[in-house]
Amino acid sequence: MSKRPIIIDTDPGIDDAVAIAIALFSEELDVRLITTVAGNVSLDKVTYNTLRLLKFFGKEVPVAKGAEAPLVLPLQDASNVHGKSGMEGFDFEEPDDHLLLKENAVNAMYRVIMESPEPITLVPIAPLTNIALLLKLYPEVKKNIREIVLMGGSASRGNKGVMSEFNIATDPEAAKIVFDSGLPLVMAGLDVGWKALVLPEDSAKLPALGEVGRMAYCLFQKYRGGSMKTGLKMYDSCAMAYLLKPEMYEIVETYVDVELHGSMTAGCTLVDLKGYLGKPSNAKVCLDINQEMFRQWFLERMAKCI
Ligand code: BDR
Ligand code: CA
Repeated sequence: MSKRPIIIDTDPGIDDAVAIAIALFSEELDVRLITTVAGNVSLDKVTYNTLRLLKFFGKEVPVAKGAEAPLVLPLQDASNVHGKSGMEGFDFEEPDDHLLLKENAVNAMYRVIMESPEPITLVPIAPLTNIALLLKLYPEVKKNIREIVLMGGSASRGNKGVMSEFNIATDPEAAKIVFDSGLPLVMAGLDVGWKALVLPEDSAKLPALGEVGRMAYCLFQKYRGGSMKTGLKMYDSCAMAYLLKPEMYEIVETYVDVELHGSMTAGCTLVDLKGYLGKPSNAKVCLDINQEMFRQWFLERMAKCI
């Protein structure tokens, strides 16, 4: 079986850390590049966190630094969810910079996509600033992108605003560029992120799975995406779950737009399930997830992280 080549665009982030582990230790995916973007915490912090993770995992994947702020809005981070460093709770070894490319994220993505003999899948699990810049600066990449599988948005309520999800609301202009790009797109948003729970009995099994499981267990003590008692929301793993086990999802193909100007709804994804707007579909939207299947899959995948 040939591995599916992917680029992860990320802002670690505790749930990012776990999603990256799952991808890097999977037999099915070939992570060609990791790009970083300001989101959960500053660009410098998320880049440092990515390098800390790669050193800890013992994986040699190039890293490129991207945008330090959204296209238009000022950055409002999520350190309230992930802690001051973005990855509180575990004592990582100090990384060196040998995996950090001199190229910026957009140029590195361009090069990796254009050099690849097989089309690349982009997996953004953070605000879409880098991806929007890539598509605007280098539209020719579209012919060698297989699909974009992103964590972000919601067909119901929000987690940043009443109706808006963090990754989309942090950089709505970038999200609009991506949703309007004409590329095949999969949206794994809050509708599934809120249900992709790691329950207390699952967390309790993590330390025995090995060093990566122990790391996740430690990070989870500080993670405020849910709680250790009622279940932790594995938002970003939802993108990996789509790539690795799509049968756990209920998916609809529909038209999604991003609200830019609503005084109370800017940054929300308008998922037009009933076709009011009369536009052709531009996304596959994950509307529901089999929770039991996810829990089992998550533990199986964490057990492979050695
Ligand atoms: C998204 O926001 C971030 O805090 C998480 O890492 C995830 O990508 C969930 O809304
Ligand atoms: Ca993230």
